[in-house]
Amino acid sequence: MKKILITGGCGFIGANFLNHFVPKMPNVTFVNVDKLTYAGNPLSVASLESRQNYHFEQVDICDSDLVVATFEKHQPDTVIHFAAESHVDRSIHGPRDFVLTNVVGTLNLLDACRTLWTDFAGKRFHHVSTDEVYGSLTDEGKFLETTPYDPSSPYSASKAGSDHLVRAWNRTYKLPVTITNCSNNYGPYQFPEKLIPIMIINILERKPLPVYGKGLNVRDWLYVTDHCDAIMTVVQNGASGETYNIGGNCERANIEVVQTICDIVSELANLDKGESRDLITYVTDRPGHDFRYAIDATKVKTELGWSPKETFETGMKKTVQWYLDNTAWIDGVRSGKYRDWMDKNYSQRGK
Ligand code: NAD
Ligand code: TYD
Repeated sequence: MKKILITGGCGFIGANFLNHFVPKMPNVTFVNVDKLTYAGNPLSVASLESRQNYHFEQVDICDSDLVVATFEKHQPDTVIHFAAESHVDRSIHGPRDFVLTNVVGTLNLLDACRTLWTDFAGKRFHHVSTDEVYGSLTDEGKFLETTPYDPSSPYSASKAGSDHLVRAWNRTYKLPVTITNCSNNYGPYQFPEKLIPIMIINILERKPLPVYGKGLNVRDWLYVTDHCDAIMTVVQNGASGETYNIGGNCERANIEVVQTICDIVSELANLDKGESRDLITYVTDRPGHDFRYAIDATKVKTELGWSPKETFETGMKKTVQWYLDNTAWIDGVRSGKYRDWMDKNYSQRGK
């Protein structure tokens, strides 16, 4: 592994991955390929700009010619594919971009690898995917790598489509691939449209905390750098053609998560805990809202020796502290486009 092309490196997980590994791996060159959509923020990787082993290319992965030209220019031996439209609520309001970026964009990358890598020895295409492809669990059971796909939202359906393409390129063309399907991440640099950053910022600004339905839906939370470590472990040691489920064994109902955030933000920002919790507001549920996600990560733990380092409590404290310390980043991501979408989305949510 000498040159890694990262797609979506200015998004939440991609930026954490680059900030975590670029300084630690000076002998590996990282090329960050990102369209810079509303979710891509160059500020998140600003500290890497002066490094010799880091390069940025503004590229839309839906543009196949540009993808090929970028491959030809940089000649990566490894691709780690993070770029996606990633927010379920946005996918409900406008599914088209999800199919274009997540399905057609993935196709363009796979085909660039297939046609431009003349020899597959030492090459790897790693696809970063989600547990949402498996659909919804009831109170029982966990997702295994063998769980049948049953996606509910346009987002998860488009990610399922991309996973199938990756497996097909492996089976048909023998492209060396791995896939990770991970549970919900939280941590620094997450765009404030997802549950955890929305709640942190709204508590600080004394705004309502919109909890969908009764707040009883369950997610399995993982601190973002634990996910990044898992991806690097799979890229380096995972077997080609294999899928690995990644999760923190950390199931929480949404209302519990929001209450915990209220308490941690109040403690770290010297606010009244009771007043923070009083901001919780139950709003109309998301259509097709998956009830529960839970990951069985036995395979990656036993075969590759990965395990998470952070607990929910330590990870959440770090996350809240990061948002408290990085108000300039928060102001930076609040572009006009983001505000317009939030206004539209919130105005459609009933109480
Ligand atoms: P994000 O929305 O924060 O970032 C996505 C990045 O992709 C942005 O930098 C954006 O500019 C870029 N991008 C979007 N469309 C593009 C295009 N057409 N061409 C090039 N770049 C484009 O997403 P994230 O939360 O960092 O998620 C990264 C990946 O991890 C996604 O594939 C997502 O499905 C997967 N994932 C996310 C989570 C989670 O909890 N966030 C969990 C499991 C898997
Ligand atoms: P989200 O962060 O959008 O991730 P995902 O939908 O991919 O799991 O949502 C996490 C959970 O929080 C999900 O059950 C929906 C819920 N939720 C709210 O209750 N309020 C909100 O404002 C948001 C964005 C999400």
